[in-house]
Amino acid sequence: MSRIIYVNGHYRRYGEAGVHVEDRGLQFADSVYEVIEIYNTQLIDPTRHLDRLERSMNELSISPPMSRSALSHIIEQTVRRNRVHNGIVYLQVTRGTAPRDFPINGKDLSPTLICSARATSRSARDSIAAKGISVVSVPDIRWGRCDIKTVMLLPAVLAKSSAHQAGASEAWLVDTDGWITEGASSNAWILNQDYELQTRSLSHALLPGITRQTLIDVAGKTGILVVERAFNAKQAYTAKEAFNTSASATIMPVVRIDEQSIGSGTPGPITLKLRQAFHHHAERIPASARPAKY
Ligand code: PDD
Repeated sequence: MSRIIYVNGHYRRYGEAGVHVEDRGLQFADSVYEVIEIYNTQLIDPTRHLDRLERSMNELSISPPMSRSALSHIIEQTVRRNRVHNGIVYLQVTRGTAPRDFPINGKDLSPTLICSARATSRSARDSIAAKGISVVSVPDIRWGRCDIKTVMLLPAVLAKSSAHQAGASEAWLVDTDGWITEGASSNAWILNQDYELQTRSLSHALLPGITRQTLIDVAGKTGILVVERAFNAKQAYTAKEAFNTSASATIMPVVRIDEQSIGSGTPGPITLKLRQAFHHHAERIPASARPAKY
């Protein structure tokens, strides 16, 4: 089955889809995006993801391409046309197309909307989670508004590439004061010496992760204390447990940070309990409620 992608009003086969060469997303990374999990044909936390997309557009004065209900319809159709049961929806909204010129002022552009849906293997992800992953700490070289989910991802590409070269799957980014901000494409967590779940508090330095927020709700319901406070690599090395959160991997146990094994060197029991509870507590909306119109 060929994959179908939505671009600016059309559902096309991948090889036939494209954007203008002077799209500002391509020229300037003047563009925001979202990744939403599809789990058992359900969208996970769509309301929070679409709220964050609206916030990202608003912070950068990118015009919304359409109403939320129209966008939800496109998401549904894209999932359905690609027959995705487990995987991710990817949305990108660029400021639009104009002759290449840096300033935004006075430009009344029509935004570009891209929506794709890709199947991923749940069993492959579960077997990675059963073993846990390694992370390495690297300097955080990103800009001052990491709270906006932009496609300006080159620092994350470089950080993840150096993690892979070191045999790890994720990089934890360390700010100039030595505090861990977040993962290259996830939020970073530890279970600290006091058995509190600890993750950095929100600011312009990190993405307000949707999985992070839902996990805070889940922890509250299961009676686990959460503290939103930064930690450094040394504190992480001696943590009882560690994990990452993201829409594409939900809660991913971390068993090694740099050269240091975490806890027993296997996924921690509290991490695994939270991973199990996560989908039960998250908002779940059928991803393809309506029949596809081909
Ligand atoms: N990444 N921090 C960063 C820098 C991220 O890129 C992501 C998500 C997160 C976790 O956010 P959420 O829980 O809303 O997925 C934190 C997505 C999955 C990606 O870029 O593929």
